[in-house]
Amino acid sequence: MNAIIHEDLEAIAWALGDEAEAFEGKTVLISGGAGFLGSYFVGALHYLNEHEFRKPCRVIVIDNFITGSRSGVLNEISSPHIRAIEADVTKPLHIKEPLDYIIHAAGLASPVYYRKYPLETIEAAVSGAKNLLEFARKKKVASFLFFSSSEIYGDPDPQFIPTPEYYRGNVSSIGPRSCYDESKRLAETLCITYFQQYNVPVKIVRPFNVYGPGMKPDDHRVVPAFLTRSLIGKPLPVHDSGNQTRTFCYISDAIVGFLKVLLSVKNGEVYNVGTDREEIGMKSLAEIITGLSEKNAPIELVSYPESYPSDEPRRRCPDLTKIRSALGYQPKIDLETGLARTLSWYRETLPPSFFEV
Ligand SMILES: NC(=O)c1ccc[n+]([C@@H]2O[C@H](COP(=O)([O-])OP(=O)(O)OC[C@H]3O[C@@H](n4cnc5c(N)ncnc54)[C@H](O)[C@@H]3O)[C@@H](O)[C@H]2O)c1
Repeated sequence: MNAIIHEDLEAIAWALGDEAEAFEGKTVLISGGAGFLGSYFVGALHYLNEHEFRKPCRVIVIDNFITGSRSGVLNEISSPHIRAIEADVTKPLHIKEPLDYIIHAAGLASPVYYRKYPLETIEAAVSGAKNLLEFARKKKVASFLFFSSSEIYGDPDPQFIPTPEYYRGNVSSIGPRSCYDESKRLAETLCITYFQQYNVPVKIVRPFNVYGPGMKPDDHRVVPAFLTRSLIGKPLPVHDSGNQTRTFCYISDAIVGFLKVLLSVKNGEVYNVGTDREEIGMKSLAEIITGLSEKNAPIELVSYPESYPSDEPRRRCPDLTKIRSALGYQPKIDLETGLARTLSWYRETLPPSFFEV
């Protein structure tokens, strides 16, 4: 396994400490397990099996590879305790063994892909959640984690930035991003309804721009797009004025937050997961990235391309008060460190042909 990812997995195990023992000898189902976040869950549980557990944790991955990678991080792990099933989470699933934990991370996460596959986006969130919630109910799992998104807040009123979980959002039901935002909102409602009606032990996370090694170079989200272009000196296309802001949370910090939520005792709760350290404009992000690579890639302000859904939020920054106080979550990796690690990972893992331009 790549050394940078190995260090991340070690950091995750270290940060979880004794909490991770909950997974020992248990079975975890991960939908979207071939994607960016899903692969890190698999990697973290594999690391715990190799270094901490006497009784292994069994992992079942479900992915239809609509955007997931067949040659990604998951492919580097060979373990008798990990079973990957190529299947669509919106269709009936046949899994005989008992399940202890379910993580529903399948979805179309990158704006370019949810613009391309709007119906699949809605289905993965809503029908996928319904399918897995039924499973969770029948299998009487210990905990169910749904991956919602900070996008459910839409374009927040400036007085709700940083945005707390109780902010209800400013979202269009028919806009260019609605297939993503509104399906995540409905899936949250489904989760809460299964909790209220059937006592399914659901938890919901709303991630705020997680990035890191393992993101496919053609993922089209801003960090992989800028980093991979910077490596070959291609211009970094900053949409519009470049003043729109985001906060970027490094993968190892985020995975610790997600797992803490999955293992938390209070059901029917929702938590923001991300970092509130640096809210940064996209032009400034591009400047940091050009500073990290040797190629001095130029920065270009461009109009929104046709492939990208417009109506993007102007600002995004999480209020992390709830997860900090309830679960002791504390992101550690600053933006420059995380970007440098991710850039090194691309440098080490992209094929030589990528650099031949
Ligand atoms: N990474 C982030 O910053 C972020 C932010 C907010 C929300 N999220 C949510 O977290 C989840 C994981 O995000 P990610 O960054 O790993 O995305 P990703 O695109 O890297 O991974 C998603 C995976 O889900 C799979 N998938 C999609 N539809 C499926 C279906 N119907 N059946 C089975 N598999 C399916 C894809 O093939 C892919 O492997 C998504 O639900 C996303 O909406 C992520």
